[in-house]
Amino acid sequence: METQLLPASPENIALAAALLQRGEVVGLPTETVYGLAADALNPQAVRKIFAAKGRPQDNPLIVHICDLSMLKTLTCEPPKLAYQLAEAFWPGPMTMVLPKADCLPDEVTASLPTVGIRFPAHPAAQAVIRESGLPLAAPSANLSGSPSPTKASHVYNDLQGKIPLILDGGECSVGLESTVVAVREGAIRLLRPGGITVEQLSAFAPVEIDNGVLHQMDPTAKVASPGMKYKHYSPKADVVIVDAGFPDFVSFVNSRRADGVYAMAFDGEETMLKVPTLSFGAAGDLSSQAKVLFDSLRRCDELGAKTVYVRSPQKNGIGLAVYNRLLRAAGFTVVDKDGNPI
Ligand code: TXA
Ligand code: MG
Repeated sequence: METQLLPASPENIALAAALLQRGEVVGLPTETVYGLAADALNPQAVRKIFAAKGRPQDNPLIVHICDLSMLKTLTCEPPKLAYQLAEAFWPGPMTMVLPKADCLPDEVTASLPTVGIRFPAHPAAQAVIRESGLPLAAPSANLSGSPSPTKASHVYNDLQGKIPLILDGGECSVGLESTVVAVREGAIRLLRPGGITVEQLSAFAPVEIDNGVLHQMDPTAKVASPGMKYKHYSPKADVVIVDAGFPDFVSFVNSRRADGVYAMAFDGEETMLKVPTLSFGAAGDLSSQAKVLFDSLRRCDELGAKTVYVRSPQKNGIGLAVYNRLLRAAGFTVVDKDGNPI
């Protein structure tokens, strides 16, 4: 199959909508990462998503909507808190896991009694949902296991020949996947950190952080969010998180200089390092770190990196999401300034 990579113009948005109505899959931009979309109510179309990505069948998909009436048809009696969160954070990078309506096929929810719903902020994503008139099931548009795509070229590199169309809407503004929360009356459980932070959510109800956010899950265990148990976001290189201040990080990296050794450095700090570096955004600007992380992880592979050292980021705000993705990219390898595992 030939894959068309086209700008997200009104004409191409109409083309995407027509393909989706015919049961095809389409790569499209959202403000978090690019998604691989299909009609959420068409089981055959949804199966094409799993086939293109090589995604395990027991990992449920997020359904994307463009107004609150769609929330009502896809879920079953959402709590009042869900509407309060929707009003505060939608459209935007938050997915709510809620009891599902019967119309949703098991292919979307991996037979769970719940469904993840998100109202994306990106105008092209909203336009495709509106024009197609369909709720769109869409995981990140990467091959399963590799870093999520934050540019249309990332999607093309992963899925060319497997899908008919990718809409190019530029670089994603957030750069990490949405915050996933399970919502009950009076309680929020954080399943995956993202652009809507724990601090923001806590203004509405107590937030419990699921164990899988910062700890490695047993792949055979039953977990609240199946996606968290898989190997994720991983470049081919070994990523190692170094929990040290900048001077210690500099000595750590410089004493390990060798062929294939790279470091991710905050802007300006690369001048102190004697190995090739990739950008890790600006120190203290957590949003900029979120925005470049996946692109830098992909560049590691392009450059043939064997080992990549990264300084442990701050864990507040969107920093928690950066750390969560980095932990998975590193297979949970964190060391201190002397190289001892933590
Ligand atoms: O920002 C995003 O969320 C992007 C864009 C495209 O919207 N999508 C995305 O989808 O990241 P995906 O499939 O890569 O990640 C969805 C995550 C997985 O960890 C999955 O296990 C979890 O959400 N999830 C989906 N439905 C769920 C449910 N009913 N219960 C618990 N977790 C669920
Ligand atoms: Mg994904």
